[in-house]
Amino acid sequence: MCGIVGYVGAQAALDVVMAGLKRLEYRGYDSAGVAVPADGGLAAAKRAGKLVNLEKALVERPLPAGTTGIGHTRWATHGAPTDANAHPHLDNAGRVAVVHNGIIENFAVLRAELTERGHDLASETDTEVVAHLLAEEFSATADLAEAMRLVCRRLTGAFTLVAVHADDPDVVVGARRNSPLVVGVGEGEAFLASDVAAFIAHTRSAIELGQDQVVELRRDGVTVTGFDGRPAEVRSYHVDWDASAAEKGGYDYFMLKEIAEQPKAVADTLLGRIDAAGSLSLDEVRIGAGELREVDKVVIIACGTAFHAGLIAKYAIEHWTRIPCEVELASEFRYRDPILGHRTLVIAISQSGETMDTLMALRHAREQGSKVLAICNTNGSTIPRESDAALYTHAGPEVAVASTKAFLTQLVACYLVALYLAQVRGTKWGDEIGAVIRDLSRIAGAVERVLETMEPVRALARTLASKDTVLFLGRHVGYPVALEGALKLKELAYMHAEGFAAGELKHGPIALIEEDLPVVVVVPSPQARSVLHDKIVSNIQEIRARGARTIVIAEEGDEAVAPYADHLIRIPATPTLLQPVVATVPLQVFACELATARGNEVDQPRNLAKSVTVE
Ligand code: F6R
Repeated sequence: MCGIVGYVGAQAALDVVMAGLKRLEYRGYDSAGVAVPADGGLAAAKRAGKLVNLEKALVERPLPAGTTGIGHTRWATHGAPTDANAHPHLDNAGRVAVVHNGIIENFAVLRAELTERGHDLASETDTEVVAHLLAEEFSATADLAEAMRLVCRRLTGAFTLVAVHADDPDVVVGARRNSPLVVGVGEGEAFLASDVAAFIAHTRSAIELGQDQVVELRRDGVTVTGFDGRPAEVRSYHVDWDASAAEKGGYDYFMLKEIAEQPKAVADTLLGRIDAAGSLSLDEVRIGAGELREVDKVVIIACGTAFHAGLIAKYAIEHWTRIPCEVELASEFRYRDPILGHRTLVIAISQSGETMDTLMALRHAREQGSKVLAICNTNGSTIPRESDAALYTHAGPEVAVASTKAFLTQLVACYLVALYLAQVRGTKWGDEIGAVIRDLSRIAGAVERVLETMEPVRALARTLASKDTVLFLGRHVGYPVALEGALKLKELAYMHAEGFAAGELKHGPIALIEEDLPVVVVVPSPQARSVLHDKIVSNIQEIRARGARTIVIAEEGDEAVAPYADHLIRIPATPTLLQPVVATVPLQVFACELATARGNEVDQPRNLAKSVTVE
């Protein structure tokens, strides 16, 4: 949510910053802007709309060249997406420029104070107060980092701030509280960004910033302190993917590339986690076996697609470990006073590791004495850092706003955690766990096979482009898959889409069925739990009898459903609990193609941002 870039070094700052913003545009695309201290002053440009508008403006009116710069791509919170509300924001003298991600909760009080002191604020944003406060503090201290510390101590809320000042043109200063900011360290240059993708083309050497820290970037080094000015301990790390991973690589959209990368992402997430004897070794789970044996409840917290992964994980955890498991939307969790204790294991699932709702929920859980295990895709992000342990998914960078490969790897990570709990607690025999691991290690191949047969799904999607509504049905683990299929369609195709537990249909939603309404049904494996399978075959007949156009996702060899399917999408036979890994893939392809057919922006759906860092 908002992308931020800062640069100091020997290169043309504007080029570095604009290239960085391009990589961060997935975080927000309501407006974009840059500022460069140059020729004794500060040059800035900003435009409402996508980055391309700013690019055009810079061609029409180029900024003077400088080697220090900052940039921003916005997801609007305070104030409409206009030029005036676009970042950077400057003080009245135009000497300091600041960009911001997050929400400054006490901005109204600060704004009133500043207005009283004669400042003239030009935007509706919460951010602008920071530029004016920084200008005041810089006049008193002549030190931008110190000015930033003094200002941050007065702010409440969540913020990443990055600033430059015309009077100290070789410095970029950043600050963070509850919002992401990483440092990139190069040879004679340094970078600041919301995400390493912004500087990965220049350096893979990164520094994680902690809470309430201020960083000062100069060509010859990086200094990090707390808001109180004391030197801070930081963790350096090497980014284990390169620039090509954050590029489209010949695909029209990142989403298509990320869908295609799923077999590898799934395989990579299993890699190194199964030892030679076939047992699970999750060294990262730094919660002792003794403590895990004591766990009497698992609570999963997550949002959106990650929440759907959690819903599926519940089936696996309860089935394999017999520990009761609750799954809760992170945004609701702490407000209902949940019952937690030191024997509750909380699992926080997040691709970005920065989702504010999930972060706040995990903090609440830790305050109540529960241990938190994060399942996360982003090294150095806040959620794993604030958890007791983290299990990373190895999906690589996910750029498209709609989550695909991260979801599949979250499922794999959840299965691993469930099996690990079963192993530690002895609720499954070693050979039973080994059998599931063997099934898991075949699943990347199954996803590959699904991807090879997607042309009919794309063709079908194109024929439905003028429909208003699509419903999705599933039972057991197929129910969260239905929810995920509906979410993908809403966010990408902007269609009314809803997922239902197939058994619930007769309790109300069946009234929605009308002639030719497309209904996608996820059919469980006919081999295991045949009751489930039989029931859903009846559900398909019920809706078809009422005129629905049935789009049935069923395993190869499942002939019982064929007579009732207007369209049959085949997936490889997979054990029931693991089926969501393969069954979700056609739904991703379906939504992506429908979005394209409807002329929507696949990678950047309207109103959304990849990383949701506000509550
Ligand atoms: C949907 C989607 C979102 C995210 C949700 C949580 O395609 O991507 O629903 O799943 O915003 O994000 P993370 O996983 O980063 O916490």
